[in-house]
Amino acid sequence: MSGPLVVLVGPMGVGKSTVGQLLAERLGLSYRDTDDDIVAAQGRTVAEIFVDEGEAAFRAIEKAAVHRALAEHDGVLALGGGAILDADTRALLAGQRVAYLSMDVEEAVKRTGLNAARPLLAVNPRKQWRELMEARRHLYEEVATAVVATDGRTPEEVTEAALDAL
Ligand code: S3P
Repeated sequence: MSGPLVVLVGPMGVGKSTVGQLLAERLGLSYRDTDDDIVAAQGRTVAEIFVDEGEAAFRAIEKAAVHRALAEHDGVLALGGGAILDADTRALLAGQRVAYLSMDVEEAVKRTGLNAARPLLAVNPRKQWRELMEARRHLYEEVATAVVATDGRTPEEVTEAALDAL
């Protein structure tokens, strides 16, 4: 019950899962992802939960999953991109080592494109990305102890930069 050693935050598609697994390997730690926890517990995909119950219900499920993982996991923990919208979650992250993996809007559009599995981007990806990042950038920065830019970098390069920055 010691809590995570490294938490990864940042927008969807930025590479939290890939970098998180590489970081965990490098540090000899286990990797956990709160979206995976939610899918396993619910027996549904994130997109299905959004369609079935709406975003507010998903956020409540997500908050519980994130708080459980923060209490239980003592390795590398990646949070879903919107987890930092919750003020209680941001408060829980104070005092943790938190890496914010960042990318600019054009990189985000390029990486995620039109992706039905990502319900927040289904209609107009560029406009939605711009709004999403304007609403969230300061929240990622608020919880971060290190900001790691991912634009034009491979997952291995991002992992090295995160190890240096953390
Ligand atoms: C979301 C990010 C997703 C997932 C859901 C909502 C968001 O997680 O939780 O689609 O609001 O940014 P990833 O960041 O792991 O893709």
